[in-house]
Amino acid sequence: MNILLIGSGGREHALAWKIAQSPLLKTLYCAPGNGGMQDMSTCVDLNVSDHEAVINFCTEFDIGLVVVGPEAPLVDGISDALSEANIPVFGPRKIAAQLEGSKGFTKDICAKYNIPTAAYGRFDTAESAKTYVAQQGAPIVVKADGLAAGKGVVIAQTVVEAETAIDSMFDGAFGDAGVEVVIEEFMQGEEASFFALCDGHNILPLATAQDHKAVGDGDTGPNTGGMGAYSPAPVMTQEMEERVVREIIEPTVKAMQDLDCPYQGVFFAGLMITDSGPKLIEYNCRFGDPECQVLMMRLSSDIVPLLMACAEGNLSEQSAIWSHEVALTVVLAAKGYPGSYSKGSFIGGLDKVSKAPKSMVFHAGTKRENGDTVAVGGRVLNVTALGANTTEAQMRAYESVSEIDWPEGFCRSDIGWRAVAREK
Ligand code: AMP
Ligand code: GLY
Repeated sequence: MNILLIGSGGREHALAWKIAQSPLLKTLYCAPGNGGMQDMSTCVDLNVSDHEAVINFCTEFDIGLVVVGPEAPLVDGISDALSEANIPVFGPRKIAAQLEGSKGFTKDICAKYNIPTAAYGRFDTAESAKTYVAQQGAPIVVKADGLAAGKGVVIAQTVVEAETAIDSMFDGAFGDAGVEVVIEEFMQGEEASFFALCDGHNILPLATAQDHKAVGDGDTGPNTGGMGAYSPAPVMTQEMEERVVREIIEPTVKAMQDLDCPYQGVFFAGLMITDSGPKLIEYNCRFGDPECQVLMMRLSSDIVPLLMACAEGNLSEQSAIWSHEVALTVVLAAKGYPGSYSKGSFIGGLDKVSKAPKSMVFHAGTKRENGDTVAVGGRVLNVTALGANTTEAQMRAYESVSEIDWPEGFCRSDIGWRAVAREK
């Protein structure tokens, strides 16, 4: 089968690496791909917002499955267009992608289906939002309703901070994403991510992960797309996973069926594990980046039948086998990220890391230039390793980081600290 994978991040490199191992694969095409994905796929220049062009490409190159990596094309309806053209696609339709595309949409589903989550209000004026904040007090969480690249959330420690956040959102700090805001109760606990596949009706739980959003050691500084992750998340016991499926994922599947848009793809549930149990922080309608990198390292099964089963509605016939080892990934980013950074520096030492046991470097913002690897993004590399426990996986990953010669880059030095501390 020929497969088209859409995206260019570390998540997509990890998916491409895993898909490329499938005996079912004939040719893998990636649009647009990155410097690392060239080794295992044919990278193509395709305007993915031009759905007609994507459909024509699929017909011409006999594509049997399209895998959509990032959320933007899903929220933009690429899945609807491909399904209408009878091209199997992994990833939810536009309405179902609202689970990520609109925080208010998800919160209303939680309220209707008794899914545990933070208490909330939805507002379309600054004045009504501020009145609610005045009633609730601080700390309180202010969120732009729409997609804001992970930056539309403010944890306000005071009422004044919350008011400032509300004004900035309604003043257009996040464009259209901020025409409505959601205000939430501040939840306390440990965060974890849970991933499950769904074919519209059946669920296949995958695995858990924890990520590090803040740019600096000790989880300090501004939030990023993610500076590292590890899987599994020790806080997610078997019992907790079962509760998440029963109390959060299953009611969501039912809600999407009731709305006549069954959810097909991967659920990425951001959870707060509180004293009273798991609560949903948010849904994403795609794999996490860099969480996907650690999941793919641990997945022993062929991923292609799993993705295909989601598209075709026969997930109940599938199962997934996972390595018991821990996977951990360290993100190398360009100095200055998540603020402004320069592009075009050369990265050396990657050939040394490729020989390290149980290690993989997944590329994100890179391109290949005359055989050299050049940094062209904010998050640039994901140095990933397996180990018998988090301590060992962390040691291996940082050993590989030290082999990489890229003075213009930086990384956190404490990825996995919470799990490592638990192991001590
Ligand atoms: P989100 O983009 O909704 O995942 O939010 C980004 C981050 O903000 C989450 O990973 C949490 O660390 C934090 N956060 C979001 N909502 C809440 C909440 N209601 N209570 C506490 N922390 C939250
Ligand atoms: N690492 C967080 C995300 O992919 O949204």
